[in-house]
Amino acid sequence: MIIQPRTRGFICITTHPEGTAKNVHNQIEYIKSKNITGEGPKKVLVIGASTGFGLSSRISAAFGYNAATVGVFFEKPAAPNKPGTAGWYNTAAFEKEAQEAGLYAKSINGDAFSDEIKKQTIELIKKDLGQVDLVVYSLASPRRTHPKTGVVYTSVLKPIGEPFTNKTVDFHTANVTDITINPIESQEEIDNTIAVMGGEDWKFWMEDLKEAGVLAEGVKTVAYSYIGPELTHRIYKDGAIGMAKIDLENTVPVINNLLADLNGVSYVSVNKALVTQSSSAIPVVPLYVSLLYKVMKAKGIHEGTIEQMQRLFTDRLYTADGNVPLDENGRIRIDDLEMREDVQKEVDDLWKIVTTENINEISDIEGYRNEFFQLFGFNYDNIDYEADTNELVTVPSIS
Ligand code: NAI
Ligand code: NA
Repeated sequence: MIIQPRTRGFICITTHPEGTAKNVHNQIEYIKSKNITGEGPKKVLVIGASTGFGLSSRISAAFGYNAATVGVFFEKPAAPNKPGTAGWYNTAAFEKEAQEAGLYAKSINGDAFSDEIKKQTIELIKKDLGQVDLVVYSLASPRRTHPKTGVVYTSVLKPIGEPFTNKTVDFHTANVTDITINPIESQEEIDNTIAVMGGEDWKFWMEDLKEAGVLAEGVKTVAYSYIGPELTHRIYKDGAIGMAKIDLENTVPVINNLLADLNGVSYVSVNKALVTQSSSAIPVVPLYVSLLYKVMKAKGIHEGTIEQMQRLFTDRLYTADGNVPLDENGRIRIDDLEMREDVQKEVDDLWKIVTTENINEISDIEGYRNEFFQLFGFNYDNIDYEADTNELVTVPSIS
């Protein structure tokens, strides 16, 4: 079928298989160009492996360290005349390239919050790999069905306390407006957000994996967080989602305790703000990211998910001397370049003056929009988007 971008609200509801394959290929080429030689992960489980940071983690492990990877995600396969989701096509492309490179790669498509998918994953690890030595936890979801009670929790992107007013942009139209976001109405909304994006499911995974004996001696596990600048604090760090991230951080000592007899260790890595399907849904954040991209690109320090994950692996998790650099709160920081004082000062100055009239000059809104569409396989050179393409792409390990 001929597949062109179609949007509903801010999201893109079509996906191009050749373009998404190009996105995966470019990330693989980037990792290969780094010629990573040090010791690293060998057998890796990535939970949330199909897009964003999780996909880039999987690519870094596989093509940076020749690791075998099992990926878990929740995506829609392709059907006749209905393209699959980006994560589906990303995984199809990833597995194909992994196979060609002689790397083990298998995937499981289903609800990672469920006991059933945990069980299936454990069976696959037992059968094919025996044990894993790295578990990456990179889920981003608006909803979670609790596996023990069946209760469905929905997260909110809301401030706590007073209503929050700030600038925001519709990145499709580049229209800058003020937005007022009403605060949570009850503690329950915070609790629900924690239930979805906090640490409980990460802990459940690690408990089940340990119980099944599929964690190797010295296993590492990492989950991702975000802090960001003052101007997004009310909606992010100090909002309901930020409370969930605190819960995630508080899970680190719990998992460390669980892994102590294996000499295993868990980390939260604070990552940089960038364009993913999840972050484009947060008010205020896309405008901040557009300004941040402009400033970081001008300074030659721009990073996407793959650059971030490559640094996480080689400069943090698997350093030559085995030490993992941490901040005073015990967290890995790869948001160091984003949070640099000169970067934040410049973004702040631009934030004060940005309007619909000047946004195209002073921000990288065009780069934002371009990257957003590239997540869905669009806006790549050398792909003919007028031409017929085979939408019925399968993931080799999923029949
Ligand atoms: P994403 O939306 O690109 O990826 C989410 C992944 O989770 C996908 O693989 C998806 O299939 C999977 N998933 C969602 N629900 C699932 C379910 N029920 N069962 C199985 N798989 C499921 O998200 P992104 O942005 O890569 O986020 C990953 C983590 O990184 C999150 O914890 C997020 O808070 C964090 N982070 C994101 C930043 C950003 O700017 N995008 C910045 C810093 C941290
Ligand atoms: Na991810």
